Amino acid sequence: MLDQRLRALLTGMPKAELHIHIEGSLEPELIFALAQRNGVQLDYPSVEALRQAYDFSDLQSFLDIYYAGASVLLKEQDFYDMTAAYLARAHADNVRHAEIFFDPQTHTARGLPFETVINGIWRACQDSPISASLIMCFLRHLSEDEAIATLEESLPFRDKFIGVGLDSSEVGHPPEKFARVFERARQLGLHLVAHAGEEGPPSYIDSALDVLNVERIDHGVRCLESPELVERLAREQMALTVCPLSNIKLRVFDVMGTHNLRRLLDAGLAATVNSDDPAYFGGYINQNFLAAFEALPLDETHARQLARNSFAAAFVEPERKRAWLAEVDAFFANA
Ligand code: ADE
Ligand code: ZN
Repeated sequence: MLDQRLRALLTGMPKAELHIHIEGSLEPELIFALAQRNGVQLDYPSVEALRQAYDFSDLQSFLDIYYAGASVLLKEQDFYDMTAAYLARAHADNVRHAEIFFDPQTHTARGLPFETVINGIWRACQDSPISASLIMCFLRHLSEDEAIATLEESLPFRDKFIGVGLDSSEVGHPPEKFARVFERARQLGLHLVAHAGEEGPPSYIDSALDVLNVERIDHGVRCLESPELVERLAREQMALTVCPLSNIKLRVFDVMGTHNLRRLLDAGLAATVNSDDPAYFGGYINQNFLAAFEALPLDETHARQLARNSFAAAFVEPERKRAWLAEVDAFFANA
């Protein structure tokens, strides 16, 4: 059991969330409400039946149900409501700043205009109780040409997002497949991130760094299989956006007690804790902190380090970063 003090520190500390798929914050209750509002027929008779289906064997088994859930999103207001609900939830967890992934291709493939998606999500960020910015992800099971077309389609909205990422089915879709689109995004001055080393091998982390020139690695937990890679990630202080509950639900690790978060920190890596797809994996960011600290030998010094790492890795101006880091230090100094 976590003691009261550590629990209060983890939940109360200021933090940034750097790995959250907005479509993965769609709770079953909201899926049903939106289905009714939009006249969409769902394959599940009730909220409970849908929640019961959240029993995954790997990443793909999750993605199939995640894309089905997103099919209830039709109007700009639907994207607004989903995003506003996440931001309120993150605010309650003392998240000060969130960098939010969205998957436009999931929606444009269903015939929705790009602007419906981004305008709804962006407007909720404008009305947000916390700082929020957007990262547009390309679906790696689709072709690079489709990613390039999506990047071109996004250009009229260039001021509404800060970076691009790479998500969806990892194995068989290495970073190299997206070299040109990432180079184009880099030329546009966008920040670059990619999922790598979640289910894929450490070599995918190497190529995300060397070929795509990413500034953060999403997940990255399989890096420990390569000592040379660990040495490099530590030297470069490359941030890893680790998602503990996701890793258990998608069977990257059997149980939380075998998760490698503590080992990543011991290796000097700039790990952070995040929620990935909180509506599907059993909790928002504080739940991820509590579950990891409950199962692993992690203490107050690790909590502070993880909070600091989250702000250090955020894509914000140095002045805002310094202010948040000072807030973390003051929080622990006065605790
Ligand atoms: N899309 C949403 N969640 C994801 C994850 N954990 N890995 C890859 N793609 C995703
Ligand atoms: Zn993810």
